[in-house]
Amino acid sequence: MIFRELWDEIAPIGRDPETGGYLRYAWTEPELELRSWFRSQALARGLTLEEDGNGNIFAWWGDPSAGDAVLTGSHFDSVPHGGAYDGPLGIVTALLAIDDLRARGKTPSRPIGIAAFAEEEGSRFGLACLGSRLLTGAVTPERALALTDRDGHTLAESLLKSGHDPATLGPRPELLGRIGCFVELHVEQGRALIEGECPVGVASAIWPHGRWRLDFTGEGNHAGTTLMSDRHDPMLTFAFTVLAANKEARLRDAHATIGRVEVAPNATNAIPREVRAWLDARAGESEVVDALVAAVTAKAHERATRDGTRVAVTPESVSGATEFDVVLRDRIAALLDDAPILPTGAGHDAGVLSGHVPTAMLFVRNPTGISHSPAESATDADCEAGVVSLSDVLADLAC
Ligand code: GLV
Ligand code: MN
Ligand code: MN
Ligand code: MN
Repeated sequence: MIFRELWDEIAPIGRDPETGGYLRYAWTEPELELRSWFRSQALARGLTLEEDGNGNIFAWWGDPSAGDAVLTGSHFDSVPHGGAYDGPLGIVTALLAIDDLRARGKTPSRPIGIAAFAEEEGSRFGLACLGSRLLTGAVTPERALALTDRDGHTLAESLLKSGHDPATLGPRPELLGRIGCFVELHVEQGRALIEGECPVGVASAIWPHGRWRLDFTGEGNHAGTTLMSDRHDPMLTFAFTVLAANKEARLRDAHATIGRVEVAPNATNAIPREVRAWLDARAGESEVVDALVAAVTAKAHERATRDGTRVAVTPESVSGATEFDVVLRDRIAALLDDAPILPTGAGHDAGVLSGHVPTAMLFVRNPTGISHSPAESATDADCEAGVVSLSDVLADLAC
């Protein structure tokens, strides 16, 4: 197995030469190209393709109708200027794991599937894990179709434009019922494996997390002629809220991030009329996330009163705690020579699937410890170790 050969086939797709980061948004050209690449890789391996009408693609080794399948895979889409590994690593290693199993003369006694899930990051339509949420019924097609991208186009419009039928969206209980368990391999998104000997870890849990839209409104006015005492500047309320979020998160051992902001009219010489920002909040327990968001909301309102502005806080997606299946987790950790077991603050389709089938995750060491950035990394040797680990897990569960 040469990881690099297959990896290099997708490396240029959606890559911004200036930042080195990826722009692989769901249902846009680069992501559709990756889906086509996946289909052709699956067909070249004699796998059976199945599409669920939600943008998710499944490639099966063995008869999928037999049920009790072992599913692996991940997603192709990226955050804006994201890293190469978050998502695609779980799909490329899965293809190579099937090659490895075949080279070892293994045949599956239950179907093995590789999934490529759509819009995991929620970078285009704002709702993370959209494909897996649609598949499982966690989000309705009506809500999904009305979601808008940054240019104001609804998902319904975007599907039609890219030649997809919006009417096919919706839960697939029959498909879900054929999945016996799900194991997602992913690049590690923190520093947990850097110091250790092991290139691969096993996930224990995903922190509760969510996204809240913050709309600050004030009074647009002239930057030169408006007295400082006459202003109703939503940027001030916003700036104070950013600092409050940071402070409130630190007080609770939680994480708060405001990484996306839009300003109107966005002019150097005008006091803004409106600032729209998104708060990403995460913590080890749901109660802590709730308390954090409540505290930030209260501080934002207090400050708005002082500034003569208004603020509205709207939840966009909230995910509770995910505890991965303990039996599966321990079986995999033991199989991988007592691989380290670690929780993560990152969301995954595995979190959504875990509400329906026993689910586990493997993490491949990331020497920078950085993710959602072009600096995200993994060595080829560690990715190959990931392939062997995944192949061992699939052999243990399905052969
Ligand atoms: C997705 O990767 C997330 O955790 O936001
Ligand atoms: Mn991600
Ligand atoms: Mn991911
Ligand atoms: Mn994720």
